Amino acid sequence: MEKNLKLWLKFYVLALLLLLHSGSTEGQQAYLNNDQLECADKSKDNNVTRGFLCNGVQKSCKSYITFRAEAPHTSAVTIAYLLGAQPDLISSLRLNNLSSDVSSVPANSLVFVPLNCSCAGSYYQHNITYTIKDDTETYFTIANDTYQGLTTCQAMKAQNSIGILDLKVCDKLLVPLRCACPTLDQTKAGAKFLLTYIAYWGDFISSIAESFGVDEQSVLDANKLTEDLIFPFTPVLVPLAAEPTMILAPQASPSPPSPSHITSAPIRKSKSSYKWVFVGIGIAAGLILLFGLSGLLFFFYRRPSQKAEQEAATPSEPKPLSDSIDYSDDSWFVSIHEGRYAVESLTSYKFKDLEAATGNFSESNIIKGSVYRGQFQGDYAAIKVMKGDVSAAMNLLKKINHNNIIRLSGFCVHGGNTYLVYEHVEKGSLDDLLQSSKGQTSFTLSWKQRVQIAYDVADALNYLHNYMNPPYMHKNLNTSNILLDGNFRAKLANIGFARTVENDGDLQLTRHVVGTLGYMAPEYIESGVITPKLDVFAFGVVLLELLSGRKAAEKNAEGEELLSASIKGVLEGVDLREKLQNFIDHALGAEYPLHLAFSMAQLARNCVAYDLNARPSMAEVLIAATKIFSSSLDWCPSSEFQSQSSSSRLPTRIIGC
Ligand SMILES: *[C@@H]1O[C@H](CO)[C@@H](O)[C@H](O)[C@H]1NC(C)=O
Ligand SMILES: *[C@@H]1O[C@H](CO)[C@@H](O)[C@H](O)[C@H]1NC(C)=O
Ligand SMILES: *[C@@H]1O[C@H](CO)[C@@H](O)[C@H](O)[C@H]1NC(C)=O
Ligand SMILES: *[C@@H]1O[C@H](CO)[C@@H](O)[C@H](O)[C@H]1NC(C)=O
Ligand SMILES: *[C@@H]1O[C@H](CO)[C@@H](O)[C@H](O)[C@H]1NC(C)=O
Repeated sequence: MEKNLKLWLKFYVLALLLLLHSGSTEGQQAYLNNDQLECADKSKDNNVTRGFLCNGVQKSCKSYITFRAEAPHTSAVTIAYLLGAQPDLISSLRLNNLSSDVSSVPANSLVFVPLNCSCAGSYYQHNITYTIKDDTETYFTIANDTYQGLTTCQAMKAQNSIGILDLKVCDKLLVPLRCACPTLDQTKAGAKFLLTYIAYWGDFISSIAESFGVDEQSVLDANKLTEDLIFPFTPVLVPLAAEPTMILAPQASPSPPSPSHITSAPIRKSKSSYKWVFVGIGIAAGLILLFGLSGLLFFFYRRPSQKAEQEAATPSEPKPLSDSIDYSDDSWFVSIHEGRYAVESLTSYKFKDLEAATGNFSESNIIKGSVYRGQFQGDYAAIKVMKGDVSAAMNLLKKINHNNIIRLSGFCVHGGNTYLVYEHVEKGSLDDLLQSSKGQTSFTLSWKQRVQIAYDVADALNYLHNYMNPPYMHKNLNTSNILLDGNFRAKLANIGFARTVENDGDLQLTRHVVGTLGYMAPEYIESGVITPKLDVFAFGVVLLELLSGRKAAEKNAEGEELLSASIKGVLEGVDLREKLQNFIDHALGAEYPLHLAFSMAQLARNCVAYDLNARPSMAEVLIAATKIFSSSLDWCPSSEFQSQSSSSRLPTRIIGC
């Protein structure tokens, strides 16, 4: 009872103060209240939507923001690139639990990003430059979707000279991220940093305060909130006395609640005393509530269509026939002693279903070699026929869970053969695609696609080397083992050759040297030495093929010419620029950034170094590949870009109000 009264008094005083000063003297920041949704409404273009006021003790400071990992921004390097931050500061923050700059976090997990924050005119902000990538982007989608609510359309409009209707692919925009430095009051109360936390479905001020172990009132005050009513994708400032640590995981629901649930979601139910506060502050609060409700309505209105679109866009996975599961096939258990584990989570197909799916393994369904295309209830799959016992390969494939490694979905044992059923990839293998630009079809992989492929393959190899337990090597990486799906994303295949890396320190040797000419590292050919650096070497050759469009080994008058031997000459001596331009696939024309091609060529050369100790580790390779990939996302083909006078396209500052 007494507690309630105290609470009530606290709020009453606060409400009175709010009314008397109508805003600014406490020097904290007003909550957006979903006004960032009203991009077209001039009355919502004000100093609340434009930024956090520059009212702190310091003009610049260290601050933190939250970001939810979302492809392709799922590692410290890629997130740092998008947010203009430093990857090492993100990965070294203990809360993020990242083992390296490139370790990827699951989609939707919360990543904390330290940023420098400073006053620009009236507002605190962290500047970044963003390049428009497709013609559906608007100030709103950039603010809400790409930057997840860390800025607003109003702030973007105010700080860029390009009109809403004039935005074009390749335009560079200034993105002011919302951040702030502690005010005098906050400093007195012990706050050293402010965290811009982006609210999510199911968040409350109370739950946010609880997760960071801070006083709920300090969070309410920091956002000039009198009521625990917040909206998803709006920034909430959290004053912190030290680097952020989380006591509890935030209670946000993993996925948006159903629309009927949203009605009650943002409104906190327990504190009935709020009712009286509303009576106390009367019209002002009523208005706030009204705006809040109109914002909510806006949300209802928009959600369903968006969800439907997303659902339509999600590709359906091949669904095996449920009635084809057959556990009675005893030959399976006989031929594969250790195969029981695999059986449990893979679909076992009947041979007659495979026959039906592939038209009796007809020639017209051959994808390549002994791999057939099959159709199960309209969904495609690839069926590979293998002789004898392949339990080791199957058990390995079962353990793998990576987007860039081909997924095994089922099997069938019949007549001494094992039939492995894989996910189907639309575009076939990388070597075919690279060579097709030489033929009649003249399809050319773009620079961005090539860089994405390099990044995907590096990611998959890094996973095999550093995230599998025990670690694995692919051992037979080449461009015919790199398959591309409908979006030209790479999937590593044929890892039947893969083997574990033994950690006893002894050099592994083999007399049985198998592999593909042009991809095999010298120490392996010469003395059968097996280390993960085999894959690094082969990856270097793949990079060279992506760069040059040439084959790893080509026959010419003097015999076999190896691509791995040719790169040294390109990057040494004089006329580097000319030599590199000559080396790069002519099918690309001038549609590639020379400086990034140079970085990629250097990376490739390091990977194919003769001395295996001079080659980088796969983790280092992935960091380099990620940087090239991130920079390439922002690169624009010259035809679209240089035709504009570049100076007039750069963001210009418009004085704030
Ligand atoms: C914010 O805008 C309002 C009116 O739009 C104005 O009265 C107020 O002084 C502004 N505050 C600051 C700190 O600029
Ligand atoms: C940190 O990551 C490791 C492995 O990536 C995981 O096992 C561990 O549970 C994580 N710790 C926390 C606190 O999330
Ligand atoms: C932030 O500021 C500090 C000190 O002023 C500086 O050392 C650091 O490099 C800055 N970080 C970024 C990402 O600019
Ligand atoms: C950020 O951009 C604004 C507007 O162009 C500019 O006034 C400000 O100085 C920039 N801040 C930094 C730290 O570069
Ligand atoms: C804002 O972005 C989030 C995801 O970041 C999305 O779920 C939401 O629907 C977007 N809001 C609007 C109004 O488009």
